[in-house]
Amino acid sequence: MSNYSIKNLEEYFQLYRKSVREPENFWEEIAEEHFLWRKRWKRVMRWDFSKPEVTWFEGAKLNITENCLDRHLAIRGEKTAILFEPNDPEEKAQHISYNELHKRVCRFANVLKSQGVKKGDRVCIYLPMIPELAISVLACARIGAIHSVVFAGFSSQALAARINDCDCRTVITSDGSYRGAKTLDLKGIVDQSLKDCKGVKTVLVVNRTGGEVEMVKGRDHWIEPLLEKAKDECKPEIMDAEDPLFILYTSGSTGKPKGMVHSSGGYMVFTAYTFKNIFRYREEDIYWCTADIGWITGHSYIVYGPLANGATTVMFEGVPTYPDHGRFWEVVAKHKVNQFYTAPTAIRALAKESLDYVEKYDLSSIKVLGTVGEPINEEAWNWYNNNIGKNKSPIVDTWWQTETGGIMISPIPYVTPTTPTYATLPFIGVQPALMDDKGNEIKGNQVEGRLCIKFPWPSMARTIWGDHKRYYDTYFSAFKNMYFTGDGAMRNAVGYYRITGRVDDVIIVSGHNLGTAPIEDAINEHQAVSESAIVGFPHEVKGNALYGFVILKEVGEARDRENLKKEINQQIAEHIGPIAKLDKIQFVPGLPKTRSGKIMRRILRKIAANDTSNLGDISTLLNPEVVEEIIKDAQ
Ligand code: PRX
Repeated sequence: MSNYSIKNLEEYFQLYRKSVREPENFWEEIAEEHFLWRKRWKRVMRWDFSKPEVTWFEGAKLNITENCLDRHLAIRGEKTAILFEPNDPEEKAQHISYNELHKRVCRFANVLKSQGVKKGDRVCIYLPMIPELAISVLACARIGAIHSVVFAGFSSQALAARINDCDCRTVITSDGSYRGAKTLDLKGIVDQSLKDCKGVKTVLVVNRTGGEVEMVKGRDHWIEPLLEKAKDECKPEIMDAEDPLFILYTSGSTGKPKGMVHSSGGYMVFTAYTFKNIFRYREEDIYWCTADIGWITGHSYIVYGPLANGATTVMFEGVPTYPDHGRFWEVVAKHKVNQFYTAPTAIRALAKESLDYVEKYDLSSIKVLGTVGEPINEEAWNWYNNNIGKNKSPIVDTWWQTETGGIMISPIPYVTPTTPTYATLPFIGVQPALMDDKGNEIKGNQVEGRLCIKFPWPSMARTIWGDHKRYYDTYFSAFKNMYFTGDGAMRNAVGYYRITGRVDDVIIVSGHNLGTAPIEDAINEHQAVSESAIVGFPHEVKGNALYGFVILKEVGEARDRENLKKEINQQIAEHIGPIAKLDKIQFVPGLPKTRSGKIMRRILRKIAANDTSNLGDISTLLNPEVVEEIIKDAQ
């Protein structure tokens, strides 16, 4: 068990050095001692970032669900694996033991098989945060089908694009979902999207809300009667370590979402090892990550990482504000949560409310606090530390991405001294580099640059589904032999990293990655719009909010402008989802452009942030006069 759980800073540095000097030996030991393999690897790793081609544990055979379920049965079969906390606090929480989870996954896997799903097939999962979401993910993994979970807040058009991109024949959904006081019609959204997805042959529907839904004969099936008939045992499909485990879409700078493909073996090893250390998980602990399984955080740190460690992982169906702003803290107290992992946007929203919501509850069980998804400002960090952690629970500010599969830069609690707003040190095996605009690595401390990773780690995405060239172009072409993250970062005097934010056209709103291009495409489809540009601007709760500069086809006051703004937001909600709606819309006569026709977003960002004192050189613009006009009407 030696290297598996890091005890102090000296050990961290020792292991870190080993992971850099002898990466193969290091990861081989971790993989060998802590996981169940059906066949050993021939080679620990191979890499070539110029292609890019990366393999880990090549030749090894495994099934990740044997690691997450079967191997725990003899030693912790009756331990709670998933602790489900429903949206409605009056509804009873469910404790699903490892024994029960194993059975339910096997049954679900048998249903998938009976519907003709085979190894390598893609299955789209569009479910709310109910146990069947985790179960269906694991059921796919059990039979070697590739799951593609789509966050159940995406619109029907966004869902259709994701179903078609990886050619899913099967969709798993529910009749509806509960979100706070609202009930959403998920099946209706699926039906709408399937009008554009001719390849889908089977829809499996979980009964959650009991709402009226239309069932298409031959295509749609309620899952419950099928599960009842299914057998409790399902032999795991034995996979190659490099076989894809799942696809998860993330926004890019251009229109189409990128289907990041993750492997089985390397992903398992890295998510399990990071989980164990970054959350300091101990056998009796109750761990809660508030993310949705529709995002990478949920894949890696609600499902796979915790279950591979035999942990108890909480799944929460609801929202932090229902029935009131104390819900998170009520759940922490009720289940005696030991590790609590959430997003800065949730912390900022709750910090605005009265402290009574916090003080009502006993939070003494908390040992580790975590944040993820966006930079955390100092004020939010301090509020979290003082009021939730009571100045005794370390905060792990974890930096990582859908593409990285697991946490890359983070303190190790009770090991790494924390500093507000710093993700601190790279995790074992992670080799960050800061690069300047000319492509040179910036060495030393007290420096700032573009954040790259110069050596592979086991859980990195292997490709973009169906478009390996785009994978190369997006991540490996900017800096030779480096993975480019798209983020900027600084390194302080003691070598701690602070992530400063995106340096590309991705904007993080409430912790969600949004590409500007797909939103602009959605707006431009409105019949009254001729062109638009989206930028982010600082927002007290969301971190960033969206500001749209929109040129209309018809000038003049012919249309009701307020109504038009509503229509534009409606259009965005239909194309992408409500998360991408604009906070501000300004109708403008033109957009500042360079002589080659490129929109100068730098200027628009400054206008949106109400910081127009120094706009820099605008004389090179094709239309400098438009800038004054935009500033005049800015909101
Ligand atoms: O900009 C970084 C930001 O979120 C981006 C990745 O988003 P996504 O793929 O949706 O994954 C989010 C959950 C892992 C990064 O490129 N980000 C993530 N964590 C942090 C962060 N920014 C600052 N600090 C963090 N801790």
